[in-house]
Amino acid sequence: MLLLNPGPVTLTERVRHSLLQPDLCDCESEFYDLQDEARERLLEVYALDPTQWSAVLITGSGTAAVESMIAALVPDGGKLLIVENGMYGERIAQIAGQYRIAHEGARHDWMDAVDLQRIAALLDADGTFTHVAVIHHETTTGRLNDLEGLAAICRERGVRLLINSVSSFGAEAIAFDDDCVDAVAGAANKCLHGVPGASFVIVRRSALPQATSRTYYLDLVRLARLQDQRNTPFTAAVHVYYAMVEALREFEEEGGREARHARYAALAEQARAGLAERGIHGVLPAGQSSVVLRAYSLPPGLAYLRLHDGLKSRGFVIYAGQGGLSATLFRISTMDAVTGADVERLLQGFTELLPAESAHP
Ligand SMILES: Cc1ncc(COP(=O)(O)O)c(C=O)c1O
Repeated sequence: MLLLNPGPVTLTERVRHSLLQPDLCDCESEFYDLQDEARERLLEVYALDPTQWSAVLITGSGTAAVESMIAALVPDGGKLLIVENGMYGERIAQIAGQYRIAHEGARHDWMDAVDLQRIAALLDADGTFTHVAVIHHETTTGRLNDLEGLAAICRERGVRLLINSVSSFGAEAIAFDDDCVDAVAGAANKCLHGVPGASFVIVRRSALPQATSRTYYLDLVRLARLQDQRNTPFTAAVHVYYAMVEALREFEEEGGREARHARYAALAEQARAGLAERGIHGVLPAGQSSVVLRAYSLPPGLAYLRLHDGLKSRGFVIYAGQGGLSATLFRISTMDAVTGADVERLLQGFTELLPAESAHP
């Protein structure tokens, strides 16, 4: 079964086998070696300087990293503007609400690009905003939001930027070199090809002294401090870390981020072109989508469940649209150990499932 959902991903055999290493107590030096290697390799993905940046590991899924980042980095007295053009942007607003962090949402239609002029106007109209949060790759629609444009707006106004890169870290460029970026949240089981259960925040070290400890388990400040001291406050997901480190070694050997981007781009384009030949079109122009995932309009006469189940019986798991989009679109991610031959077989599956009248040869 090949997983074409946006994580958990289809594992390589090498990563799968890495789970079978010796049992390890997370208070032993071998575990701290593993933790150190994971942290160093995460910074190497974007060639970040470890004296400037800290990779903080969290046992928990991607949302745990996002929550840890938001809860820690908007200080008491700060105010967060949340860029929302999909489900994950809206989730950040829920997190901010839960922690009673002063915030406002810049709501967009889920299909729309971020209106940068509107963000600038909102920041200018209310000088109390200290932070902006954004989803880099809004997995709801596959849209890659314009980080550089947003960072420029934040930089000009002295506002700090917090980025959810859960579904883009490792495959898309991230504006780490922009001084306004304070933190980026990611997960092991997406573009890095690890297993679910570990996530991380790449945080600018200079942002930590101002950070607050609103949460106990997800406290970024304590996690960063203890991990720097080769320690951990709680039982870490040891086997998940084994897999994350092996996936990061494989990532490097395969050519790093540029190679992964190029591979995803080729697979996404192959799927796009093949589906277009069959009369199925992306909901966004390819230039606005990430290379990680594309959303497509459901063809007339083919309900999602029939498509999903038909492809599943042929060995592929695709992904439904979220919320109100579930009736109109479906999503395909080529973010894993998928090959061009797999995409060809997938396209053949579409040919077999499409009602005769909706196929456009
Ligand atoms: C952009 C983004 N943020 C957050 C999440 C949530 O991750 P998790 O379900 O691992 O907590 C996802 C999951 O797909 C995502 O794509």
